[in-house]
Amino acid sequence: MANLIVEPARSLQGEITIPGDKSVSHRAFLLGALAHGPSRILHCLASDDVERSRRAVEALGVPVRREGEAWIVEGKGVEAFRKPAGPLDMGNSGTTTRLLLGILAGCPFETKLFGDPSLSKRPMRRVTEPLQKMGAKNDDADHLPLVIRGGKLQGIRYEMPVPSAQVKSALLLAGLSAEGPTTVVEPVPTRDHTERMLRYLGARVESHPRESEDQIPAFAGMTHTLYPGAKLRGREIEVPGDFSSAAFFLVAAAIVPGSSVTVRRVGLNPTRTGLLELLKRMGAKVTVIPAKAGIKVETDPRIRGDDDVCEPIGDMTVSCAPLKAVTVEPMLIPNIIDELPILMVAASQAEGISRMEGVGELRVKETDRIQSMVAGLSAMGAAIRSEGDSVIVEGPCRLKGAAVDSFTDHRTAMALAVAGLAAEGKTTVQGGEWVSISFPDFEEKLRAIRR
Ligand code: S3P
Repeated sequence: MANLIVEPARSLQGEITIPGDKSVSHRAFLLGALAHGPSRILHCLASDDVERSRRAVEALGVPVRREGEAWIVEGKGVEAFRKPAGPLDMGNSGTTTRLLLGILAGCPFETKLFGDPSLSKRPMRRVTEPLQKMGAKNDDADHLPLVIRGGKLQGIRYEMPVPSAQVKSALLLAGLSAEGPTTVVEPVPTRDHTERMLRYLGARVESHPRESEDQIPAFAGMTHTLYPGAKLRGREIEVPGDFSSAAFFLVAAAIVPGSSVTVRRVGLNPTRTGLLELLKRMGAKVTVIPAKAGIKVETDPRIRGDDDVCEPIGDMTVSCAPLKAVTVEPMLIPNIIDELPILMVAASQAEGISRMEGVGELRVKETDRIQSMVAGLSAMGAAIRSEGDSVIVEGPCRLKGAAVDSFTDHRTAMALAVAGLAAEGKTTVQGGEWVSISFPDFEEKLRAIRR
């Protein structure tokens, strides 16, 4: 196992770019494969997880090739998908698994999916149950390995009991092959990359705020309806820098005294950037400058393109300032679900008691992130505890370098490494190699801003 060794930082300064967004990169391969004609994917994340989506569409018979820095997916529609030669390896990737289950639900053949030990513990019934209601046939197991047999689907209306972008995406993607509209109701908004990309490629997806009086309007739930029939067209897709990866540097800049870090060309999708609002509330200095258009590159003339962009992009700067504690309302949790580990690190450096309530979904991520973060930060001297599905952090505390464990989880590894920057003495994160799931050059980027 490779360790991440982190020495305390005097300050962090400078500008960095961040690898492509993991969620958008997965969708670019999967939806590009469903479209007709080539899609050119720019600034795609090169990581273990995204490789699973690329290899899966290739195994289903969709040609994918490299052209300079870009990936080209030669989609011919879902009707051109072929039964793969063998079982598909999902590795550690929950996004590939759940979105692919939705796509395979509309394919008239049997496919077996399997994954690594961490993925094989994660719940899948939340996807397969509604897919069965649409007409797919699959094993009754809640976990991989799973066999799914697609067929004739019927659109349904589904109220998601757990807010999950992966479940919503699976159902909307299955809806492309169904008869009649498919409606997904989410109690709280979740990331909307699938709806955006579906519309960008030509699908008809209508989204409306869900009617409810007892919710704060800004975070009220949504209803999404996909109307099948429109032909998806391949296009150029510019993947923004991953806000969830940028988050490690934004929090690092907020907690290491004297720091100021700018991250360029990051996704500004408001269903993802809740952490910025929280950092502002905590007292960090935050500036965001939206970019007007995507990077100019030569465009394949066969690729339809115009001025609209799939995802908003911009630059953001965070500078250190004394932080105060924050209470996170449950409605914001899906927005910051992947940033909760690094928010716990920020909270350990903030004055007062921070509370994150209703964060039970963290228990079914790549590891139990409540347990992994409580273990890691406690070993470093933080006052952090869990109470049921809540995490409570009392700060500020002087962190001490320690030997901590990633528990084979990329975000736990990076969050604890950032804690190490603000600690006294050396921190060793065991299982540091797991950062390659979403951010292979994490250490290199960190070196670039250390002063
Ligand atoms: C993702 C959705 C979230 C998130 C995951 C990526 C996606 O999971 O935690 O890292 O790309 O749709 P859930 O849908 O389980 O909330």
